[in-house]
Amino acid sequence: MTATATIRSETRPGEVPAPVAATAGGATVFSPLAALLKPRLSAAAVVLACEPLARRTTLKVGGPADVYVEPAGETDLAEVLRFCRDRAVPVRILGRGSNLLVRDGGVRGVVVCLAALAFAQVEVQGPLLRAGAGARLKQVAAEARRHALTGLEFLEGIPGSVGGALRMNAGAHQAWTFGVLERVRWMTPEGEAEEKPASAVPAEYRSCPAFRTNLALAAVFRGQPGDEAAIQARMEAFRRQRQETQPREASAGCIFKNPATIPAGRLIDELGLKGTRIGGAQVSTVHGNFIVNTGGATAAEVLELIEWVRVEARAKRAVELETEVEIVGEDSV
Ligand code: EPU
Repeated sequence: MTATATIRSETRPGEVPAPVAATAGGATVFSPLAALLKPRLSAAAVVLACEPLARRTTLKVGGPADVYVEPAGETDLAEVLRFCRDRAVPVRILGRGSNLLVRDGGVRGVVVCLAALAFAQVEVQGPLLRAGAGARLKQVAAEARRHALTGLEFLEGIPGSVGGALRMNAGAHQAWTFGVLERVRWMTPEGEAEEKPASAVPAEYRSCPAFRTNLALAAVFRGQPGDEAAIQARMEAFRRQRQETQPREASAGCIFKNPATIPAGRLIDELGLKGTRIGGAQVSTVHGNFIVNTGGATAAEVLELIEWVRVEARAKRAVELETEVEIVGEDSV
């Protein structure tokens, strides 16, 4: 079924799309779903049809979203969620796309990105730092340093957004998001905003089940009073360590979760798989747990390489590697 056919079947009886065209990659195309959604949102909201997602991810592969939306605020977001729920249109949230592999056929339904300013504020009050889901982790770390709050330095090196970090319980340098979290604010699939203490939200290594259904809106982190120069020095040490041990080419960060028995990067290294290439996708020669896009890679090539590594790990070391990167969308036909 084509994307357009899917969308038409999701239009409610008697509902006629307003004659609004949406833009797709500079060209104007007609998307019934985008046309129905656009007039329901505030004028500042962004609604794009058939929006390529590759350029919105750090790995730079994959197809388009049927509809891409940047709500201007929580009211718009609630409207998008209710609109999609009423029509059984799937909704996906896109952060900074740094831990994401979009398949070549793209993503059906609506992809929501909290890029608007309303979702990206960072404010400090005493030892607490409140950040919108769309704020960059780098910005959070910088703001904490400016207010001489220590404990949040590790966020500097994670190339994601606050929302993505909550969803993934992102971590680095033996620290992780939920370790410094005080409260979260999220929106339920019904469009209701709720705040919860972090203690009421169970999280595991690289996963927080509550965010499989709820959309992160904001987080309150707790820092400890510290010394700005020492904080700066720690951040620089982390940056140096990352530059020395991680590749600079386009990637989605670590591809696999670390198994309990051995770090995935070391295992892949010991298996002699660094440098293995399928098309434009290559196991990084710098760090075994990264797959880099050497230019022009497809999602299919990256997926094939992931599978190759898994098969080798299983056959030669009896280790089951689980992907850490989120894989979304459909294969191209
Ligand atoms: N190693 C090798 N060969 C390699 C890569 C690593 O022998 O090619 C060895 C290292 O020498 C080290 C061990 O494996 O002894 C672990 O490597 P590293 O210190 O690089 O950490 P990691 O476990 O591979 C984790 C996170 C990273 C995070 C770094 C730095 C996971 C899956 N990865 O990597 O997070 O940046 O620590 O703190 O937990 C990500 O989540 O996308 C990510 C990159």
